[in-house]
Parts: sequence; structure tokens; C-alpha cells
Amino acid sequence: KRPAGAPDKSLARNVTKVGVVGAGLMAGQLALLFVRRLEVPVVITDIDQERIDRGVAYIHGEIDKLAAKGRLSADAVNRLKGLVTGSLDKKAFADADFVIEAVFEEMSVKQQVFAELEQYVSPEAILATNTSSLSITEMGSKLKNPERVVGFHFFNPVAVLPLLEVVRGEQTDDAALATAFKVGKQLKKSCVLVKDAPAFVVNRLLTRFMGEVIATIDEGTPFEVADNALEPLGLPMSPMVLLQLVGPAVAQHVNETMHAAYPGRFGLSDNMQRFVAARKAAVWITDESSQSAAQSASVGGGG
Ligand code: 3HC
Repeated sequence: KRPAGAPDKSLARNVTKVGVVGAGLMAGQLALLFVRRLEVPVVITDIDQERIDRGVAYIHGEIDKLAAKGRLSADAVNRLKGLVTGSLDKKAFADADFVIEAVFEEMSVKQQVFAELEQYVSPEAILATNTSSLSITEMGSKLKNPERVVGFHFFNPVAVLPLLEVVRGEQTDDAALATAFKVGKQLKKSCVLVKDAPAFVVNRLLTRFMGEVIATIDEGTPFEVADNALEPLGLPMSPMVLLQLVGPAVAQHVNETMHAAYPGRFGLSDNMQRFVAARKAAVWITDESSQSAAQSASVGGGG
């Protein structure tokens, strides 16, 4: 059955090569999923060779883990590993028909990535973004062919969670959207079409929910009490453990986007800002001593 709002699938193009921009953890998870499900060449890039090598090594390591669990044959291991390459040179993306970026969550960085890609890929190649919260329309606004830009938002851990938010920007055309849905299906994800609104749907809800847990801690409820309060609901993990999984910096970026869009409804937390600045789980308030550690680790944090 066609997902609600998806264009006619006859418009979808075939994807024979995938490019992934970024070789960090999220990008690595995406490259792994693409090579496993599409079985086409996947090329990854980043700002230096060391990052690229680490990204390729991560993907190879995950392929080995799947083999160790008995989910891939020795043949498949060699085939999939052979399909993954890294390149500093964007020319390697020239024949990619679907490129996804998972770089730093900053509009100008993502716009620059797409502008650079546009010099190499064909005008029909899909430029997808795994942004957690930024506008798809704005991301494509400086391109010659913004109609091929589409939001393709996965959830952590990518290999496990079935949901995929597909986002249509104002200029996204039906062929790009149909291709995105086709690829989402090939990746065995449950695709939903969502509006190009700040943080789309899931992160909008999640940010509100996490924000209230954080505010409760900020107001003095002990960390463990606030974090464990919803245990009887049977959530797969507590809110603060989920925050660790998502990455505090990513969560903070999403929160800042929501705060900018709806300042009255999404607050900012000094503790959260300090936590991200210090980049250590231990500095969140778990007791008096770690509270002072958080404060001393503060980078220009007030209050
Ligand atoms: N990375 C990759 N795979 C992981 C993983 C991780 N961090 N954690 C667990 N897994 C895999 C395991 O390997 C296992 O796979 P297998 O069945 O092939 O062996 C499978 O997940 C189940 O793992 P476990 O049995 O060890 O653990 P659980 O049953 O407790 O499940 C969980 C772990 C899937 C992470 C579950 O706790 C969960 O669903 N948590 C909620 C996650 C969530 O809400 N994510 C959305 C965050 S929002 C987001 O990502 C958007 C972004 O823009 C911010």
C-alpha cells in the first residue's frame, strides 16, 4: 500500500549508487543500511582521510558482527565490504543517483555540502538530508535544482528502528519524493510523509517530552527520580538514557531549533547547555557534587 501522500510510484527512479556525506556514527549507520539493503556501491566522504578510514572500518566491523550473528554468509560479507569505498574527492560521487548527508547539524554547513555536490552529481540525483530539525526548503533554496532535495530522517539505532520520516520541501518534485519512498521501502523502513516544519513530527514531540524531564530536574527533582518516573509506562529506555543514545549535542540542536520557532513553548536549560559543553555524562546533576562539577565544567554558562 502506498504511504499516505506519496506520489505515484511509477515516477520513482532506480538507485544504482549511493553517496553518504559524513563518516561519523550516524553516517556510518546509514551507509551500512544502504549497502545491506540495496546492495549497490556506497561511497562515503568526510573532511579528512582519517575520518573516512574510521567510517569504512566501522562499516566493515558492523558487517563482521552481522556475520558473527549468522545473518550474513562469508560471500555476502566480502561482497558488501567490496561495495563500500571512501573518497576525499567528491568526483567519486559523480555517478551516484542518491546522496544522503549526515554532517554537522548547521544549516550553512549542509547548504555548502549540497552546493558542492551539485557541481558533481547529475541534475536528477537525489540530495537527501538526515537533518533532525532543519528546514528542507531552506536547505535547497540556494541550489540550481532544489526539486531533488528531500528530507530522509532516520531514528537511532538506525538498524533497529523501523520509522523513516520523508520530508517534502516546497520545491521537492514528485519524482524525487517517489524515489525517496521507493528507497525507503528497499531499506525496509516504514515511511511516513511529514511536513517541512521545525523538527518535523517525532523530534517535535520528543523534544517537548525530554524538555519537561530536563525542566523537572532543573527545578530540583533528583535526576534519578525524574528519569525513572515513567518506568511503569514500559518505555524501552528512560528519557536520559535516550538522550545519551541520540547524543546530547544533537538533542540540543533540535531544542534550539524548536526554541527559535516557538520560544514560549520550548525552553532552554542552562544545565543542558553545560552538559553538552562538557560532553561528559557524569557531569549532569546526579547529586550535589556532580552538580558543582557541572558548574565548574561550564563554558560560559550562566545561572
Ligand atoms: N546501535 C545499533 N544497534 C543496537 C543498539 C545501538 N546503539 N542498541 C541495540 N541495538 C540492537 C542490538 O544489537 C539488537 O540487535 P539484534 O536483535 O540484531 O541482536 C537489538 O538492537 C535489540 O537490542 P537489545 O536486545 O540489546 O536491547 P533492547 O531490546 O533493549 O533494545 C533499543 C534496544 C532498540 C535501543 C531500545 O531500547 C529502543 O528502542 N530504545 C528507544 C530508542 C529511540 O526511541 N530512538 C529514537 C530516538 S530519536 C532519534 O533518533 C531522532 C534524532 O534525529 C534525534
